[in-house]
Amino acid sequence: MCGIVGYIGKNNIKEQLLDGLKELEYRGYDSAGFSIMKDGELYSYKSVGKIKNLVEKSKKFEIDGFGLGIAHTRWATHGKPTEINAHPHFAEFSSVVHNGIIENYQSIKQQLEKKGINFLSQTDTEVIVKLFEDKLENDAFEAFKNTIKELKGAYATLLLTKKEPETIFFAKVGSPLLIAKNDEEIFFASSDAPVVGKAKKVIYLEDGDYGYIKNNQIHLFRNDKELQLNWSDLPKNREFAQKEGFRFFMEKEIYEQSHVIIDTMMGRAYENGIKFEELDKNFLDGITNITICACGTSYHAGMVGSYLLQRNAKIKTTLEIGSEFRYKTPLLTKDTLFLVISQSGETADTLEALKMAKKAGLKTLAICNVDNSSIVRLADKTILTRAGIEKGVASTKAFATQVMVLWMLSDFFGGINEYKTFMKISKACEVTEKLHEKIKRLSKRYLNGHGFFYIGRDVFYPLALEGALKLKEISYLHAEGYPAGEMKHGPIALADPELYTIALLSKNLLFDKTKSNIEELSSRDSTILTISCEEIETTDDFIKINESNHYMIEFYEMMIITQLIAMEISVRLGNDIDMPRNLAKSVTVE
Ligand code: F6R
Repeated sequence: MCGIVGYIGKNNIKEQLLDGLKELEYRGYDSAGFSIMKDGELYSYKSVGKIKNLVEKSKKFEIDGFGLGIAHTRWATHGKPTEINAHPHFAEFSSVVHNGIIENYQSIKQQLEKKGINFLSQTDTEVIVKLFEDKLENDAFEAFKNTIKELKGAYATLLLTKKEPETIFFAKVGSPLLIAKNDEEIFFASSDAPVVGKAKKVIYLEDGDYGYIKNNQIHLFRNDKELQLNWSDLPKNREFAQKEGFRFFMEKEIYEQSHVIIDTMMGRAYENGIKFEELDKNFLDGITNITICACGTSYHAGMVGSYLLQRNAKIKTTLEIGSEFRYKTPLLTKDTLFLVISQSGETADTLEALKMAKKAGLKTLAICNVDNSSIVRLADKTILTRAGIEKGVASTKAFATQVMVLWMLSDFFGGINEYKTFMKISKACEVTEKLHEKIKRLSKRYLNGHGFFYIGRDVFYPLALEGALKLKEISYLHAEGYPAGEMKHGPIALADPELYTIALLSKNLLFDKTKSNIEELSSRDSTILTISCEEIETTDDFIKINESNHYMIEFYEMMIITQLIAMEISVRLGNDIDMPRNLAKSVTVE
């Protein structure tokens, strides 16, 4: 995920910016850069890859004394990870860094292009600085205010301009931004990590906040009114700051899902339907069926996608596990769209399967979280999931965003509009304190059995598979996901009080059928935890989700619960949550 750092002071400005960027490395990035304003001149450096490349590139650039600086680590969402697309972005005499997504950047870009303004990069960010200069007459703050008024989407942004060389302009909507200070310096950052140990006091900006810092005076506005500055103390522990106060990266990533899901939808889900700038209108020409291929959690997302694509887009969809597909001498025909899903974009089995499909001349599409990864480079088209870097080995937010892309894709192909439901998904992914506390308490009852069955039907079957996989990965307990209706064909023989069943019971999809499958297990005395909006009296434990009118809202609420169950059981067992034994984050070997 992108990171922002800003600095105003006289203590080695270049090092301050580079140090800040290094503290943001843990968030993942593919390029970095900075701009420094000193005595009315703007100095900028950018590079692709690690911060050390930026250090190397700016090695000869020496600067002393007071200055203002903005810096950025970029995780590509619009445009490839190239030096041109790296931040800062420039207009004639100004420079900008930005986190988030400008949803309406294309229409702004078109307007400006009509006026003869040229764009260098493929990013959404460049429109901010070009629009700013277009609006600038005499008053730079006025121009900045009018610029941010036109932006739709999410942004945290810092802007420098030679027209007002003593000033940094800032604004925040949707993406995090803070101002921190000590006695003689002022910092900006997109999270605590770069400023812990450097600054003492902090203001976490709220959505709609904007303003400027000039001559060390901070002017903060909301709704055209200047606000009082309410400083609070900064946390002191850097690792704690990186995890943003959470115990584990996995926990942070579970909580983050309600935000990243919005990033996934931004610029794609509109009131009048779905748009994918990555795909042209005739993308499906000549295609009669889709094959989805992936591994692990991404495979489970793919299975959810196969239900959604068939139901919403009415396209025959088959599913393949990467490692199996490679060796089964598949029959590949050119009327098939070959869709691969991968968080890392480097999974060897998925990559090899993609190569086979390409070789057979199939049209290919990747759903991936890492731009410029091997899979992205190979596929004809890619839709990025925009989950930001995932540090926990057990995948959570990558899964949530993969499913979201597949769901949008199914509506896009099917010409269906579910905008109102999409708008409820972020809320469905929120973790409340009450829910988390309940799961912490319940987890103690699920530590000593001989195994777990996760059961569900339709899209809740892949969710059952994924819930079981999460538990296996970090608790090392045996868990299986099963289609609820399949239990009677064998697995039910295992049912006894030491067999734990996690039942995913949707009110909107096959409620009665699933309920009777749960009752079959209950009458064999299995210990059952039901997750539903309607309690069934015959089961042992119950976690209530909200009543809703769409099974995908239930899906996301249940997803959060299964992730928390896996994590809290594993915490009680004393396991390493972020780095479970025997597992690697990216499986680049066969
Ligand atoms: C599980 C998990 C793995 C990956 C699988 C594929 O939590 O993360 O099952 O999903 O190794 O990886 P990607 O998605 O990177 O292709």
